[in-house]
Amino acid sequence: MSLPRRRRIRTFFLLLCIITFTTFLFSYTFRDPSLYFFKYAFRLSDNFFSKGLCACRQCMTELEDDAWFVERFNQSIHPLMTRENSVLSDETFKWWQWLQSEKKPANYSGVVEELFQVIPDEVRYMDTGPDRCRTCAVVGNSGNLKGSQYGGLIDSSDFIIRMNQAPTNGFEEDVGARTTHHIMYPESAIDLDNTTILVLIPFKTLDLQWMISALTTGTIKHTYLPVPARIKANKDKVLIYNPTFFKYVYESWLEGHGRYPSTGFLTLLFAIHICDEVNLFGFGADQYGNWHHYWEKNHLAGAFRFTGVHDGSYEYNVTLLLADKHKIRMFKGR
Ligand SMILES: *[C@@H]1O[C@H](CO)[C@@H](O)[C@H](O)[C@H]1NC(C)=O
Ligand SMILES: *[C@@H]1O[C@H](CO)[C@@H](O)[C@H](O)[C@H]1NC(C)=O
Ligand SMILES: *[C@@H]1O[C@H](CO)[C@@H](O)[C@H](O)[C@H]1NC(C)=O
Ligand SMILES: *[C@@H]1O[C@H](CO)[C@@H](O)[C@H](O)[C@H]1NC(C)=O
Repeated sequence: MSLPRRRRIRTFFLLLCIITFTTFLFSYTFRDPSLYFFKYAFRLSDNFFSKGLCACRQCMTELEDDAWFVERFNQSIHPLMTRENSVLSDETFKWWQWLQSEKKPANYSGVVEELFQVIPDEVRYMDTGPDRCRTCAVVGNSGNLKGSQYGGLIDSSDFIIRMNQAPTNGFEEDVGARTTHHIMYPESAIDLDNTTILVLIPFKTLDLQWMISALTTGTIKHTYLPVPARIKANKDKVLIYNPTFFKYVYESWLEGHGRYPSTGFLTLLFAIHICDEVNLFGFGADQYGNWHHYWEKNHLAGAFRFTGVHDGSYEYNVTLLLADKHKIRMFKGR
């Protein structure tokens, strides 16, 4: 054997060793080795030749996506209402009116028209693409946030979405201080500061009328419960959860379990549709299995899991599956 040829063989074996070693390293590092290796190689070549589906490390939708997820996720249904998508099918309208059995609803399309004279009519957040990396923290109200020290992590997100009464004053270390979006319905409404976006979940036509009233004349003071006549909120930053999307969450994601989805679950699906990366805080019970709010002293107060309206266990199952499939990350607190 000539010398150059031996050297070529040596080089070849050296290369082979390097390739084997790096493959092994990847296999060792990641749980689903083969898949991850190809995904990684793909992402790498992506960065050289073209761009990925989003600019985050992991995106909500992937090229080779999970079948369970694909079966449920429908990007073409917009989470927020605009004049254009506000028209409901007969079936959707009937279902929606049935939620809180509104007896004599006002003229829905007339109310919607009036509403969009008060709040902006824009398509928001549907700008997913290779240049966007939007990270979101969905902050539930569970007592498992107490002592969690998640505040810094939550505040570092692009969007910080809270719901219902959720206070931050005095709880910053555990729940953070910033709020970009606050999800509420008339019976759970609180005052917001001028920079926070109010996302209203309407359960009936009266809720849309209340939104108009609460930002203007203050005439509506009662739905099926007393509600605030006025609320502090920036009317240029009010968004409406789309009833069509509401029904989609119920049918596609809960497969009709419970009477309707909880605020927490509706908020989670909202985030999944508008964010690239979703981190979930304050969902589920605390370390003792108690269901209460983080601002309540009494562990036994507010057993909100057992309201009968929502199927909490089914919702939790779906949430765990989303985490299993790396669509969201769950921070379980204490
Ligand atoms: C997604 O929703 C749209 C609008 O309702 C519907 O036409 C379409 O068939 C749905 N796509 C899938 C894959 O279910
Ligand atoms: C409801 O309101 C719309 C828009 O303002 C109007 O065109 C329609 O005639 C109204 N329908 C009824 C039944 O009053
Ligand atoms: C709130 O923001 C709006 C603009 O979005 C501005 O017109 C208004 O003056 C602000 N109000 C306060 C109290 O800062
Ligand atoms: C949740 O998932 C587990 C395991 O997949 C299953 O045994 C259980 O019945 C599910 N619970 C509900 C309420 O669907």
